[in-house]
Amino acid sequence: MANIKCVGLLTSGGDAPGMNAAIRAVTRASIYNDLEVKGIYRGYKGLITGEILPFKTNNVSNIIQQGGTILKTARCVEFREPEGRRTAYETLQKEGIDALVVIGGDGSLTGARIFAQEYNIPVVGLPGTIDNDLYGTDTTIGYDTALNTIMQAVDKIRDTASSHERLFFIEVMGRDAGFLALNGALASGAEAAIIPEIWTEVDQLEELIKNGFRKTKNSSIVLVAESEITGGAIGMAERVKKEYPQYDVRVTILGHIQRGGSPTASDRILASRMGAAAIDALMEDQRNVMMGVQDDTIVYVPFSKAVKKDKPINRDLLNTLRILSI
Ligand code: F6P
Repeated sequence: MANIKCVGLLTSGGDAPGMNAAIRAVTRASIYNDLEVKGIYRGYKGLITGEILPFKTNNVSNIIQQGGTILKTARCVEFREPEGRRTAYETLQKEGIDALVVIGGDGSLTGARIFAQEYNIPVVGLPGTIDNDLYGTDTTIGYDTALNTIMQAVDKIRDTASSHERLFFIEVMGRDAGFLALNGALASGAEAAIIPEIWTEVDQLEELIKNGFRKTKNSSIVLVAESEITGGAIGMAERVKKEYPQYDVRVTILGHIQRGGSPTASDRILASRMGAAAIDALMEDQRNVMMGVQDDTIVYVPFSKAVKKDKPINRDLLNTLRILSI
C-alpha cells in the first residue's frame, strides 16, 4: 500500500456540474481511509499562491446538489511554465501534501501529466468537463447535466421556431468536440447536428438543404457545435442567408448557461463513484491515471491516453438523427 498521509485536491479549467459532488467524494473517501485532505483553491493557481485549507467532512456538507465548484477554478498560465510548476511542488512539500487529485478537463489533465512527469508525486485525475472529450471514459462529470440544459433550452426555442416558421441555428459548447451537439440534437428532436468531427468529409449544411430538411415541416432546428472549423451558428446563418435566402433564419448561442445548474442524478453518481475510486487508486499505488467509466465499470486510464487521443464520436448516432428527422 502506498505511503500517503495527505491528499491535495483541486478543480481546474472550465467548471462542470458535479464537480462539487466529486470534491465531496474525494474528501470523504480520504477521511474514511484515515488520510488528511486539503482543498487547494483556484486550481493550479492555489498551488502557486498557497491558497490551501484543511478539509473535514463538514466542509463538504450540502454541496452534492450545487453546480460550480466550492474550490473555485481557474485556467492558470503560470503553471504552464517550468518555474510555476517548481513553485507548485515546493508548496506541496511545505503543506505536507504527498498526493494530488485533479478534477478537470483536457487542459487540466495535460498539466497534471506534465507535473507528474517532472516531480515524484502521485497524481490522479477525474474527468470534470461538460465537453465529454476525454478518451477512455464513456462520459465525463458534467456532460449529462449540460445535455439536459441544452435539451430544455431547445424545447423552449422550438415553440417560437414553429410559431414563426423559422430555421434556427443553436450553438452549443464542446470546444472542438461535437458530443454535446450530436446528443443534444437527438435528445431535443432537432433536424441535424453540425459537428467538427466530420466537417472535412462532407458539407453538412449543403447536405441538409439538398435532402430538403424542411420537406414535411415549416420550422427547423439545427444544433451547431462551437468550433473554428464549422464557423459556429453565426457562420452557418450567414451562409444560409447568402445561399438560400428563402429561409427565415435566427441564431441562438446558448453559452455559459450550459455550464451551470444543479447536477443530474447521473452526474452526481458518476462524480461520487469516481471520487471514491481516485482514493482507492492512490492507495493501490496508482499514479498518472484518470478515472474513467466504461460499461458502467470504473477504469484507470493513463493520462497519456486520456488527453492525447481524439475520442471518436459514434457515427451510428448521426445516422439515427438523419433517419428521425424526415
Ligand atoms: O471546456 C469547457 C468549455 O465550456 C468549452 O466547451 C468552451 O469552449 C470553454 O470551456 C469556454 O471557456 P471559458 O469559460 O473560459 O470561456
